[in-house]
Parts: sequence; structure tokens; C-alpha cells
Amino acid sequence: MTEQDPTEFPDPESHSRKAGADVRIEVLDALADARGVLASIQSKHTSPAGGLVLRCISEALASPSVFLPSLPEAAIQATQVVDSPRCDVLDLADTLNADPDIASRVVQIANLSFFAGSEPVHTARDAIVRMGIRETRNVVMGLVVRRLICDAPGYAEERNRTWQHSLATAACAQGVLCELAVADCLGFLAGLAHDLGRSAIYTWLGERGHTDISATVLDPIADALHAPLAAACLVHWRLRFELIEAVRWHHESATQARHRPIAAALEAADRLAHSLDGDLSHAHPAPELLLLLEDLGISANRLSRLQHENQARLEELRKIL
Ligand SMILES: [Fe+2]
Ligand SMILES: [Fe+2]
Repeated sequence: MTEQDPTEFPDPESHSRKAGADVRIEVLDALADARGVLASIQSKHTSPAGGLVLRCISEALASPSVFLPSLPEAAIQATQVVDSPRCDVLDLADTLNADPDIASRVVQIANLSFFAGSEPVHTARDAIVRMGIRETRNVVMGLVVRRLICDAPGYAEERNRTWQHSLATAACAQGVLCELAVADCLGFLAGLAHDLGRSAIYTWLGERGHTDISATVLDPIADALHAPLAAACLVHWRLRFELIEAVRWHHESATQARHRPIAAALEAADRLAHSLDGDLSHAHPAPELLLLLEDLGISANRLSRLQHENQARLEELRKIL
């Protein structure tokens, strides 16, 4: 990121290798992006409740300490290990075994009837062999992100809705990226994380005892801020550059030519997920979705089949997560 373009994200080649101070600087840059969006909406929310929400967010963004939602280090490491070209089962098992809680949850999930093994597995290594390396990474990230979104005080209904929508978006993003012949593992993580900024806002409000802000006040603010906040979380977690960009621009992909097509795929998945959930109040007009898909090279006559597959994928995910 540079001073000339405060919304630009880090170089993709170097980002995943950075640690410590370098990552901290990038987090600060991502937070500067979020603060810029916050400043742009402050004059539009003049009600006392709106002012209160904006003050809470502003205080959280101004905090000198690390306040962004954290993931267990083993989950972050697992993502990086799986992205490595030299990844193997033992590498991933060693990473998971560093966190006994995660390792035991992975073993439990590998023993679900969904994965249909003839014998129970007892170790992380055997669980990975049963589920596959990428599926194991998805399970780990699903477990920790669900905990992050759902297990915090306040806004339980909103948190549950955010989680269900995130899982549906993960299923749809996998489907859209498969259509584009892009690795679907990126789609799963992008969908899972794309609205994390909403849960960060719920957490900051809850920590300050403000657990009764109405949706009428909260939703427009979260709508405007959740994407830059989610991107800041992903920088903090040292996730992949394409993933961070896609999440940052998932509501503005048309204006961000250099960040397409993954951001556009995530934007389409976000809209498809709302229609999977049957939540028509959030659905964007069908012509916009069709244009977005057409721009990605997915024709309207493939939409029905794509949604059928997305629904099936979502039902599978709900059995596991
Ligand atoms: Fe969003
Ligand atoms: Fe969304």
C-alpha cells in the first residue's frame, strides 16, 4: 500500500510470507482504508443511535492495541500450509496437533457419517487422509470462523444470520469459481469470510454494552463498513492477497477493474446466497445478478443448474459445520 492509494492491498507474492512487524503495518493500512470509509458516512448518520454506533466503531478503529477478531494460530498456519506447493498430510497434521482443540474437532468431523469410513479415525493424520487436505482446511476454517461469528455476546440473531449467510455464500462462491475454472478452495474461504466485518461491529457494540441497537440504525452502517473491516481481518490473519481483495471489493467489483474476476465472482455468490436462503428482502434485482454473471461468462440458462448445485453443496456443508 502507498500513501497515494490508501485502499491498495499488499503485493501478493510477499504478503503470505510476511510476519510480525510487516503484517502489523499492512493491518494499519487496511484500517486506514476502513477509517476512510467511516469518515465518508459519518455525516449521513445524524440520529443519536447512529452517532453512538459510529462512535463505537471509531473508538475501536482508533485503538492502538490489536482489537481485530483473532483466529487460533493453528488455523492460520493450516491455511498457509495447504497453500504451499509442498504441502503433505504430515505437515498439515503437525500443524493441527499444535492445537489439541482443533485437532480433536477435526477427528470428530472425520467420523461423521457424511465421510462414511468403515472404521473410526483417532488421529488428525487419519482424519486428513479420510477427508482430504483441502477439505480438512475448509473444515478447520469453518469451525473457527463459526465460533468467531456466533460465540460472542449480543446480537445472537444477527450473528446466526450472518453465519448462515456466510456458509451459503461459501457454497455459492465455490460453484461460481468452478464455472470459471478457478480453484474452488478460494471461493470457500472468500464466502466464509466476506461479511466478517458485520460480526466485528456486533462485537465492538456488545463489548461496550450496546446490545439493543435496532436493525434500522445498524444495518446501513454495517452495509457500508463491513467489507473494509473484513479485509482488515484477513490481512491480520495473513491470508492470500486475492482473497483479501475479493472480500474488500465484494460490493463494488464493477468499479474495481483490477480486482476482478474473483471479486465479481464473490459479489455474484453473495447475491446467489440470498436467493438460496429465500431472503428476498436482501435480494438484488435479478437483472443486476444476470449482468454480473454474464460479465463472468456464465449465461442465464446455466443459472438454474448452478443454483441447484449450490443448494446441494450448502446442504452438505450444513451436515459438517
Ligand atoms: Fe457483504
Ligand atoms: Fe454477504
